[in-house]
Formats: sequence, structure tokens, C-alpha cells
Amino acid sequence: MNTTERIDHARAALLTRYEALENKNDIVKAPELKELFGLIPTLQPDERASFGQAVNQLTQEFKDKAAGEKIVAEELPAIDVTAPFDVNSKSPVLLPSENGTVHPLMREIEIISDIFNRMGFVTEESREIDDQYHMFETLNFPKGHPARDDYDTFMTVETDKDGESLIAPAHTSTMQNRVLKKYIANLERDEPIAAIVPDRVFRNEDLDARHEHTFYQVEGVYVAKGVTVGMLIATLQKFLEEYYGKSLEVRVNPFYFPFTEPSFEFALSCPFCEAGCAVCSGSRWIELLGCGMIHPNVLRSANIDPNVYTGFAFGCGIDRLVMMKAGIEDVRHFESGKLDFLRQF
Ligand code: PHE
Repeated sequence: MNTTERIDHARAALLTRYEALENKNDIVKAPELKELFGLIPTLQPDERASFGQAVNQLTQEFKDKAAGEKIVAEELPAIDVTAPFDVNSKSPVLLPSENGTVHPLMREIEIISDIFNRMGFVTEESREIDDQYHMFETLNFPKGHPARDDYDTFMTVETDKDGESLIAPAHTSTMQNRVLKKYIANLERDEPIAAIVPDRVFRNEDLDARHEHTFYQVEGVYVAKGVTVGMLIATLQKFLEEYYGKSLEVRVNPFYFPFTEPSFEFALSCPFCEAGCAVCSGSRWIELLGCGMIHPNVLRSANIDPNVYTGFAFGCGIDRLVMMKAGIEDVRHFESGKLDFLRQF
């Protein structure tokens, strides 16, 4: 074989090899090329230069071919941004839809809503950014009230038209004023205002197994003529018995919230034991939520006459309810996006 024939022969072998390669760039490492390069020093000086050039050319030929290949592969089809994600991608990026499940918190919110809806409460949504008027003023925390600091509120750097920072609601009570105003016509028809607001809240907490910066609460608001503390306690007891599917004892201790008077901390007998367990830390009681009779100023800020109407409100952490029900030991699992956690539900 003369040198030209050698090159042509190698080109044919390289082509076959090239077709079979997964990574086309690997062609530069082909043994056929190595062999040609190995030949160069064995040649007569007069042949050496031209042969070396031909081998280099051949290498370049395949390099260009591989580079061209890459460009074609990177020319992705146009994306239809209006289509669901799986129309645009060949293989699903996330879990296949048939393996997906409802997030445990969302599932429990449905159950909680359903219980309250059957008791005559409507379900309303909160929001993820709100103003200080709804977070504080309407809830009887005047400006400078020390209890404003208790909520570890996230605030924006930008301000609203009154020069005040916006807030990521630290409790669902921010919705009380809106709910009262929205349903005020019920009172004129002699029907109660009865609403729950299960939604997300945010606090600048130090994180641990029991504290997360983002969590869920369910707010309850009930206003009519002649509403009493007894009705508040009975409503919560009935709800918890439905939720845990068994009879429970409940108890209230005095507490303080600016927006309820009197205010209580509400506890239930441990649904999981008779004599003390890990869930109730051996005490048989679980402090669960804050509640009380709606403060007259809160009713007034929604144009409801506190001399005619009274009401109760409560705010309960949903994550805690679900953790107890499902035996989840760390609240941070909920927002972690860990599939090995989520797949259990
Ligand atoms: N918003 C209160 C909290 O998050 C709970 C609460 C709601 C208390 C309604 C009384 C009435 O701590």
C-alpha cells in the first residue's frame, strides 16, 4: 500500500467506527489514527512531511464531522411555552404523573375544610403578601404595640403608599377583617358569619424539628348574636374529634392576644395514649392553638356593632395537627421536597 492508499483505507475504517460511536468526539482516539501517527517516524524523510500532513488532515476531517454533529444535537426543537411541560421534553423531568401524590398538607387541608364546611363554615384563602393594616391595625395592635414584635414578621424593603413595609403574613388572622367585611350581609339576614381560612404563613424563626419559617394555619371566625365561649370550645372539640376520629377531652387556659378578649390557649387530651407518650411528652395534654372571643375593636374595624354581635376566632397550626396524626417527627420535612418523605403519602 502506498501512503495515499493507507490514508483512504484508514478513512473507510474510521467512518465505520465513527457511525458506531456514541460520543462522536471519541473518534480522535481511534486506533486507526494512532496507527497512522505511529507510522510517521518510520517513513523516509521525503515522504514524512506530506504523510504527516495527510494524517493531520484526516484527523481534522473527523473532528469537524464530530463538531457538526454536536451543533445539530444542540438545535433543540422550538418550545411551545403554552403546552404542559411533558409535551416539550422527551423524557419526563419530574415524577411520572401516575406516581405523583397530593402533598400531605394539602390533603389534610381538604379534610379539615370538609369538616368545617359540614359545620356551616365557608372556606376562604389568605394571601402571601399583605399590609400592616391587616396584620396589625385591624387586629387591635395599634402602632408601637409591643405585641407586634411577637410575630417575627418578614417585611419587605419596599413600602406601600403610607410608607409602611409590606409583610409576609405571620398568621392567618390577617384575613379576619376581610372575612368579616365580606360576609357582613349575613348578619342583616340573621345568619352568622362563619368562615375558615386554611393557608400559608411565614415567620422569621430559628429552625428546628418544631419550627419552620413557612407553615400552615387554619383561622376560624364566627360572629352572630349571643355567641359564647362555650360555643367556641364546643366547635373546636367537635372539629378535633372528627379529625382524630375519637372522643377527646379539651381544656382552656387564659392567654393573651390583642385581638381576642378573653383569650385562651386550647389543649386537647392526647389522642394517642392514656398514660403519656412521646407525642404529648408524657403530660397527656397537647397545647394546640390560640383562640378567644373577638375583641370589640376588631368587630368595629369591620363596621360590626359589638353591642349587638359577638364572635369567636381561633388559629390552629395545621402542620402540627398532621404531624401528630401521621407520626411525623420533623416539621421541616413538609417543605423539604424530599421524595422519600413525600412518597410515603
Ligand atoms: N393568630 C394567633 C397566632 O397565630 C392565633 C389566634 C387566632 C388567636 C385567632 C386567637 C384568635 O398566634
